[in-house]
Amino acid sequence: MTTSQTNPVLVLGGTGTVGSRIAKQLSAASVPALAASRNGTGADGVVFDWEDRKTWENPFKAAAKASSKGRDEATGNTSGSSRIKSVFLLAPPVLDSAPIMMEFVDFARQRGARRFVLLSASAIEAGEPAMGKVHAYLRELGCRGEVDWAVLRPTWFQQNVAEQEGHVRSLREESKLYSATGEGKIPWVSADDIAAVAVQALTRKDPPNTEFVILGPQLLSYDDLAEILTELLGRKIVHVDLSTRDLEERHQSLGMPENYARMMSSLDNAIKVGSENRVNDVVLSVTGRAPKPFREFAESVKSVWEPAVA
Ligand SMILES: NC(=O)c1ccc[n+]([C@@H]2O[C@H](COP(=O)([O-])OP(=O)(O)OC[C@H]3O[C@@H](n4cnc5c(N)ncnc54)[C@H](OP(=O)(O)O)[C@@H]3O)[C@@H](O)[C@H]2O)c1
Repeated sequence: MTTSQTNPVLVLGGTGTVGSRIAKQLSAASVPALAASRNGTGADGVVFDWEDRKTWENPFKAAAKASSKGRDEATGNTSGSSRIKSVFLLAPPVLDSAPIMMEFVDFARQRGARRFVLLSASAIEAGEPAMGKVHAYLRELGCRGEVDWAVLRPTWFQQNVAEQEGHVRSLREESKLYSATGEGKIPWVSADDIAAVAVQALTRKDPPNTEFVILGPQLLSYDDLAEILTELLGRKIVHVDLSTRDLEERHQSLGMPENYARMMSSLDNAIKVGSENRVNDVVLSVTGRAPKPFREFAESVKSVWEPAVA
């Protein structure tokens, strides 16, 4: 799979929806991983906080410690050095994430990292704000031969419906799904499939040096999701199609900051006018496995939508 299987892959957001799956898949492939998060939980966990630069060194120290320990056992040699060559980059939860992410890319490069795999989004082109700027930066460094890179641009995650509190609560308590997407369709993708593409991009011998638009197998509107959930749950689930403004207010009422709520509801409006209306064969061609259909995902997690028993 890789030329550097003894070097740990640094997975930022290693406890999150995508990062935790990457760490698990790497471990299953016997590739060591360091799963970074603010608490550093888990067997491969390491403390890393975007807001506390003192913690940025931690993964590199952990890798050096592990590599010197490995050599200790094999040869008795005690000198260690950083062995992180590949980094999965997940943005911090702020709107203007580009400056700090580019600073970290340079920080990691100074410590020997060579390959960067960025999680961006289908809606963000290279050069656009936030991850789009990091995308352009990696591409530019790549053109100069200074890094190997890949940018993952997944569409909307199937997991949103089962993990985002707004959706879970409205499904449990009201049997409703809210959006401002009208009849717009989305090729909902599984985080397992995104992680599988990431693992290939992080570990395969030849550097990808390209972007991957990662889409699921079927185009489904929120009405279609409501129909699938109605069948699976055995009770009527209704899609409530809000205006963009009403969705923005709903997001804010659930605690989302104003500017983030505006951005999220404008993305629903883009879906409404067809921005996500396409499928491709990226998951199959990169991983060798067909992407998971939404119904299969929903079946596997359906207990999360059962109403709480009083
Ligand atoms: N959801 C979608 O439909 C969708 C579609 C396309 C693209 N995306 C992109 O996917 C990304 C989100 O991925 P995800 O769902 O896997 O994330 P997630 O589940 O929200 O996980 C976030 C991760 O970041 C860590 N984290 C949070 N604050 C941190 C900080 N200050 N310093 C260090 N680590 C921190 C969290 O761990 P701790 O909290 O334990 O620190 C966690 O591991 C976003 O960039 C989004 O734009 C999402």
